[in-house]
Amino acid sequence: MEASAETPSFVVALDGPAASGKGTLSRLIAGQYGFAHLDTGTLYRGVAWLILNEGKDPSDQDLAARIAGDYAVEKIAGADIRTREVGAAASVVAANSGVRAALLDFQRRYAKTPPGGLKGAVLDGRDIGTVVCPDADVKFFVTASAEIRAHRRWLELKLEQPDLEEARIYKDLLERDARDAAREDAPMARADDAELLDTTHLSIDAAFAAARRVIDGVFQRCGN
Ligand code: DC
Repeated sequence: MEASAETPSFVVALDGPAASGKGTLSRLIAGQYGFAHLDTGTLYRGVAWLILNEGKDPSDQDLAARIAGDYAVEKIAGADIRTREVGAAASVVAANSGVRAALLDFQRRYAKTPPGGLKGAVLDGRDIGTVVCPDADVKFFVTASAEIRAHRRWLELKLEQPDLEEARIYKDLLERDARDAAREDAPMARADDAELLDTTHLSIDAAFAAARRVIDGVFQRCGN
């Protein structure tokens, strides 16, 4: 069954800080319910990568907004957007209102009409429940202590960068969290109606089970 005027797309929003587990949870939820998944951080990372790749400055507001306006996923095919440098530049680019405005329509269209005619979409980011999809059917705010998030990110990155120090990652994360939460436009925030999932002491399986209980409850209430 495709999303249509009669059966609108079922939208699940997950927000939260870096390395909180929201990406893994989003993929599991999308797989479980047969929904499309958009990691909206890849949009900001993609714009940041395009700027860095041209040797330009991510804090150049006009340039970043122009690149976001012309953004297409094909432009970053094969690019490594998961590096520390791209993450830091993405957070700078994400504080630019021109960039956010340019990427908003794409995200909303994705939620409303998921690709492949799927009947729902899972979007994860920082402002999905508050700005991009304030009417999402289910919202989660996924978080964990900064120490545990830094440890998880370090374990991921050190496979490619064995010399990377965990303390450095911790410092990066705190800087990025502060910038993402303090910016004026669409700061990272928990929506009033978002369920809190703290994964500090929760395995991914336990967090997924908790998320499923919430989603199944909403399904039951709306008769799906
Ligand atoms: O989730 P991530 O680390 O891939 O995100 C990269 C940056 O993009 C992060 O610093 C915050 C920003 N971002 C945002 O501002 N809004 C979103 N919806 C998603 C990401």
